[in-house]
Order: sequence, then C-alpha cells, then structure tokens
Amino acid sequence: MSEKACKCGCESARAPQFAELAPTLEEYASVPGSLITILQKAQEIYGYLSVDAINYISECTGIKPAKIYGVATFYAQFRLQPIGKNLIMLCKGTACHVNGADMIEEAICEHLGIQDGETTEDGIFTLNNVACLGCCSLAPVMMVKSVDGDETYGNLTKDKVREVLDEIKARA
Ligand code: FES
Repeated sequence: MSEKACKCGCESARAPQFAELAPTLEEYASVPGSLITILQKAQEIYGYLSVDAINYISECTGIKPAKIYGVATFYAQFRLQPIGKNLIMLCKGTACHVNGADMIEEAICEHLGIQDGETTEDGIFTLNNVACLGCCSLAPVMMVKSVDGDETYGNLTKDKVREVLDEIKARA
C-alpha cells in the first residue's frame, strides 16, 4: 500500500495499520483537550497503546510523545502493554467487596500466576480489577471479554472461578 499524507493535516505518512484510528484523528487532532478521547479510541481499537500508536498520535496532533505517555500512565484506564485473549474484569465495587471479591482475586492470582494488570505468559488471560459492573445482585462478579463477546459470571466462589478459568483455557 502506498503511503499518503495524513488527512488530519500533519506531515506524517498515513500508516496503514492505523487506518481505523485515522477518522478519529481527523476529527479530533486539532481540537484542544481531545487527547483522552483519542487515546480511548486507540485503546478500544487496538486493545492497548503501543509505542507506534503513541508516536502516530503525536505526529497527527503535534503533542509530544512524552506528554502523551504522561497522560496514558496517569489514568488507570490506559494500558501500554497488549492484553491477553481474555480480559478478566473482576469487580471490586462495594457489593462485590463485601461478598468476597478479595478472596476471588486471590484465587485468580494463584490459579493464573498473575496480579491485577498483568497478562499470563501464554497470552490467554489479563486480569483487571474494575469498579461496579452494574450487576451487584450477583456479587461477587467478574466479566470476561474476548473476541467471542462478553460473558458475566456471578455468585463466584474460589472453586467456581477456577472452573471457569479452566474452561476458558481449554477453549483457547
Ligand atoms: S459492586 Fe460488583 S457488580 Fe456492583
């Protein structure tokens, strides 16, 4: 594919791998205060903010990469590393906390050998603790996001969460 000038008006070549992000940059690159919106969109598309993506956003917006890193590392919502095939979103909201979310987290961490924010070596799971998932009556709850869609698991126990993780791993 031939390189074209970026439509957002910057001097950078329009990298084909960022074609999906280009419309967002065209809309927001020159709008002050839009960096978080752009980063959110980039993460939604690519799953995390890669060095290349940050450099591309920098070229299109004129914001220095160091400043973009500063914003990306300040907000917990942004990831700078790729996530696993299955993103475990473990609820640590009040209802889940009261109903044993810490115990569930312990079981997940022990079973997978990772901590909050980490990805297993085989790339199958990433664990992220999150705030209320909006289904408190099922506490403790986790949601697992994957290319197959989102699945919610409620009334978790240590045994149940281990079973769920083993089932997902067997399908991966
Ligand atoms: S507190 Fe966990 S779903 Fe609401």
